[in-house]
Order: sequence, then structure tokens, then C-alpha cells
Amino acid sequence: MFNAKFLLTISLLLSFPLLFLFIPRILPHKRTQIQNDAVLFRRATLSGGTAVSTTNHKPKIAFLFLTNTDLHFAPLWQLFFQSNEPLYNIYIHADPSSNITSPGGVFSGRFIAAQKTQRAHPTLISAARRLLATALLDDPLNSYFAVVSQYCIPLHSFKYLYNSLFFKSPFPMHRSFIEILDGEPQIWERYIARGKNVMLPEVPFEQFRVGSQFFVLTQKHALVVVRDRRLWRKFKLPCLNLDSCYPEEHYFPTLLSMEDPDGCTRYTLTRVNWTGSVGGHPHTYGPREISPQLIHGLRDSNSSYSFMFARKFSPDCLRPLMDIAEKVIFRD
Ligand SMILES: *[C@@H]1O[C@H](CO)[C@@H](O)[C@H](O)[C@H]1NC(C)=O
Ligand SMILES: *[C@@H]1O[C@H](CO)[C@@H](O)[C@H](O)[C@H]1NC(C)=O
Ligand SMILES: *[C@@H]1O[C@H](CO)[C@@H](O)[C@H](O)[C@H]1NC(C)=O
Repeated sequence: MFNAKFLLTISLLLSFPLLFLFIPRILPHKRTQIQNDAVLFRRATLSGGTAVSTTNHKPKIAFLFLTNTDLHFAPLWQLFFQSNEPLYNIYIHADPSSNITSPGGVFSGRFIAAQKTQRAHPTLISAARRLLATALLDDPLNSYFAVVSQYCIPLHSFKYLYNSLFFKSPFPMHRSFIEILDGEPQIWERYIARGKNVMLPEVPFEQFRVGSQFFVLTQKHALVVVRDRRLWRKFKLPCLNLDSCYPEEHYFPTLLSMEDPDGCTRYTLTRVNWTGSVGGHPHTYGPREISPQLIHGLRDSNSSYSFMFARKFSPDCLRPLMDIAEKVIFRD
């Protein structure tokens, strides 16, 4: 009896070192996939802020693809990125429930650990924060962080975008291109979508903002987002009124306008057509609308800058877009 127990104890004790011997062989697969957001955000916060000298290394643009379908325009983006290494990094957050197939090419191996996302739900904020944190951790040279979706297309060549962001006036240097609006109709309904006074004291109504969730953030602001726990505690609450619930359109503009209003341009570089919008969706361009004139028109803004991306385009726009890619879209 005693012997059996003794043997069991001894063998258990002996197996511990064996366990440690094997754990490192099991873990490496997981190491690139940090499942726990809290751990991911903490690591990104700690790693960030360590400014990298850019004298020897050129800064990069991190492209954060947020999708819940296949990347319809992967071939177009492939052309956009082609021969611009090492000036960019790609990160893809793909809703795992939608069985997305990797388009290969520049997208190979760029999928990050993802979780389910849902429209008008804080899961979209989580996904964007996960992308920002992963990109911050992955490469300290990532200096701008551009969120795009599967319905977005580029309106200029990569070189044009890169030079505009890093070198060219009238583009304001080191500022985030994020739309920040106040006094929009229905903003009160959206403010109280989680219940009256729920947002207080962290987010007074006067500081509640709205804007597009497609933005280009500086590294400093990517860190602000990843580090934030105060506002996130409120924005992650479920909405009671689903008709006025678009957390992803409020969290980022509100947070950045509270933390660093002067560091934001208050406009987005992603053109969207709200004329004739249906059910909160903007106009979706179809294949017959694609033309050089459309691309040129979409670039134009009322200000001194040019739009860099546009949405939304239906998947069957790929063919006509590829036809004008070299001659129109990437010629600038
Ligand atoms: C993904 O695959 C699972 C299992 O094969 C299936 O149940 C589910 O419907 C698929 N989702 C989509 C969006 O096709
Ligand atoms: C915006 O969408 C409408 C259809 O809703 C279309 O008639 C119009 O041409 C579009 N505008 C631009 C600039 O593409
Ligand atoms: C520019 O301003 C005009 C007039 O206010 C407006 O109709 C148009 O939609 C604006 N264009 C853009 C790209 O914002």
C-alpha cells in the first residue's frame, strides 16, 4: 500500500521536469497567436513607446485588414504592395466563423489570432485594437496604422501614399487621419444607447464624438488606443437600443479627441459615398460604375489633400478595377 503510493508520488515528481522538457515544443505554435487580449494589450503597451531610430531604417505603414469575408480585392492590393518591401506590413483579422481562405501572395502568413465580430457591436472595436496591438508588437518600425476592410480599394499607388504620409506637405506630419465629428443628428440617441448616464463620468455627452472606423493612426495614437482601459470599460457595454448602436464609430474618435485633439486631422483618408444610403450602409459601387473618371472623382476632396482609399465596392468590381489598375489607379 505504502509502496504503491510512494511510487506514484515519485513518478509524478519525476514527470514534472519531463513536462517542462516538452512544453516548449508544444508552445511555439501558440506563441504567435496570443489568445488573451489583456496579455496582448499589456505586452503591446510595454513594448511600444520605445522609439526606434529611423536613420538606418525607413518607417513602415501597417495595413490592418478587418474582414468577415474573403478579401475580394486581394489581387488589386497585391499589385499595390508589389515591389514596395520593406516599407509595409500586413495584418489580417478575419472572423473565424466565416472560413476565409488565404489569398496567398503578400497575404500569406499575415492572419492574426482573431475572434468573432459583429456589426454594431463592441467586437469590432476589439478586433481593431487586436490588430493595432499585434502590429505594435510585431515591428517597431510600424509608424502609421491604416485600417481597411474587404470592401476598400486603394485610390493611389503605394509610393504616393507613402510619400504623402511621411514627406509631403500639405499632409500634416505625425497626425492621425481620423474623422472626428460632433453635433451630428442622432448623436444623443447613440450616446444613450447603453442607458441614460451609463457613460458617465468617463464620457460626458459634450465629449462624445462620431467618425468612420476606417482611419490611419500614428504610432503614438495606436498606443493610446491599446493602452486605454478607462473608456473601453464603457464602450464595451452592450447596447440596449440596437438601432442606435455603432460603438466602433464612436470609441476611436471620442478617445482620440479627448486624449490628443491637436494630434488629429479630424478627417479620414477613406472616401465613402453616403448618398442614397440604405440601412446604415453607404452606396456600394457595382462593376458598371467603375471608370477612370470615378477613380479621379473619388480622390478629390474639398480640401488640400487627396483621398487614399475608397469604399464600398461589390466583389464583382475586381475585373474592371484590375483593368484600370496600372493605367489609372496606380498612376499618379
Ligand atoms: C464555416 O464552416 C463551418 C463548418 O464547416 C460551417 O458550419 C459554417 O457554416 C461555415 N461558415 C460560413 C460562413 O460559410
Ligand atoms: C454616390 O452614390 C450615388 C447613388 O447612391 C450615385 O448616383 C453617385 O454618382 C455617387 N457619387 C459618386 C461621387 O460616386
Ligand atoms: C464638397 O463640398 C460640396 C458642397 O458642400 C459637397 O456637395 C461635396 O459632397 C463635398 N465633397 C466631398 C468629397 O466632401
